[in-house]
Amino acid sequence: GLALGGGMAHHPARTGGELRTAVPVPEPSTVPLPVPPVLAPAGTHDGVDRYEITQRRVTAEILPGVRTELWTYNGTFPGPTIESRRGRPATVVHRNELPVPTVVHLHGGRTPAASDGYPTDLVLPAGWPDPAAGHGHHGGDAPKMHDERAATSRLTRTYTFPMDQRAALLWYHDHRMDFTAPAIWRGLAGLHIVRDDVEDALDLPRGPRELPLMITDRAFAEDGSLAYPALDPNLRDRPGVRAPFLAGVLGDVILVNGAPWPVHETDAARHRLRLLNASNARHYELEAVTDDGRRLDLVQIGADQGLLAAPVTHTSLPIAPAERYDVIIDFAALPPGSRVRLRNRLGTGRTREVMAFRIARAARDNSRIPAALADDLPTWRRAEASAVRDFAFRAGRTPHGRGWVIGDRAFDPSRTDVRTRLGAVEVWRLVADVHHPIHLHLVGFRVLSRGGRPPLPHDAGLKDTISLRPGESAEIITRFDGYRGRYLFHCHNAEHEDMGMMANLEII
Ligand code: C2O
Ligand code: CU
Repeated sequence: GLALGGGMAHHPARTGGELRTAVPVPEPSTVPLPVPPVLAPAGTHDGVDRYEITQRRVTAEILPGVRTELWTYNGTFPGPTIESRRGRPATVVHRNELPVPTVVHLHGGRTPAASDGYPTDLVLPAGWPDPAAGHGHHGGDAPKMHDERAATSRLTRTYTFPMDQRAALLWYHDHRMDFTAPAIWRGLAGLHIVRDDVEDALDLPRGPRELPLMITDRAFAEDGSLAYPALDPNLRDRPGVRAPFLAGVLGDVILVNGAPWPVHETDAARHRLRLLNASNARHYELEAVTDDGRRLDLVQIGADQGLLAAPVTHTSLPIAPAERYDVIIDFAALPPGSRVRLRNRLGTGRTREVMAFRIARAARDNSRIPAALADDLPTWRRAEASAVRDFAFRAGRTPHGRGWVIGDRAFDPSRTDVRTRLGAVEVWRLVADVHHPIHLHLVGFRVLSRGGRPPLPHDAGLKDTISLRPGESAEIITRFDGYRGRYLFHCHNAEHEDMGMMANLEII
């Protein structure tokens, strides 16, 4: 079977599809919120910043008093944050000291295909036989190579990111074929923030009042390790195991920036929350509630691909795996000592809590929320579209048993599913059987309709991931510009992605 290397404990015990943690967890609002370190370039040459990241195992204390092995970028979970200016290229050199091959993808990046992290373009650990070079297989864990000519493997890999794109919160994560979900689960995720002059010109909260918040769920086994179901497809098809794993893996501990239900002490002022749901499969609906039961507005100023044209006010905000929301929350009216909890309306028991803010002090606030934010949002029209395509995201048979398919096809790297021309505008009609967050590489898109109706308030702006609810359809429109080459679109429920729900998009 496809046993995972590296000694992750396999735990079949779970309730309702959610893995249950077997070690003590802290009370909410006791662990301080960490903010991931910003990575300094190792060097700058001809206006290109060069970063170096080593992927390695570390033992960390995520739950107080519990030791947990993680797979990390540079030793931390989340990995270090990279900050780039629009138009200033970055190269990132990844070295793999993990026990398995990896792939790095910059989610939301407008990246040339060679650096986009195609699922078979591996970064090999030292000593690992190169599957593309025909050295055979290493246990059962070597990825399938349907297209060995197209796959490239290296011991280190230099990814080149032009960063020619709007200011936005991007994230980088593992993307190896069939093994993305367990790799992200073990810690291979980090933030990449793009800044630009448009954003700088606005008086948004900044410095310590701008907080990136990477939200994930995890479960911990008795020995403190991260619990994850066995990847053995035979096991997957066994009654009682199949359903929860097929639906995606859920944990019962909510981590924000890698800390369980953390608390952040701060000023009574506006804050800018850069929200990312980096969970494998869990959806949240976030609301901010004071301890005396008042809901604070979440004023959305940006989506996956950057600023909106104008703010949108929410009382609660659904966020699917891989989605980002840029949100302003105002604590000005709150007296010192008060607490605001960020809660998940979709959770039950302890997965209802996410994190909290404790208002420590009154403070001056020169920030504001401008009525007009960005005026560079693309407005593609249906009449411009050279193609309208239909994609049904649903359960189906794959070469490995039950899984997830698009149309009736499971992912196959040797097949081109969509071929389009550079610069083409297309309308895609998506429909889902169960909840699927659908992500396109390379491009941002606008939501034209949802369920035959106008888009919802949280569909505003430029997206790269759209959350389809069970039975729901949506239309999106985009222009395939930027680069030629082979890209992907897929469900960002990471287990669905690994179980076939991905397709090739070739831009010619
Ligand atoms: Cu977040 Cu194909 O990726
Ligand atoms: Cu899915």
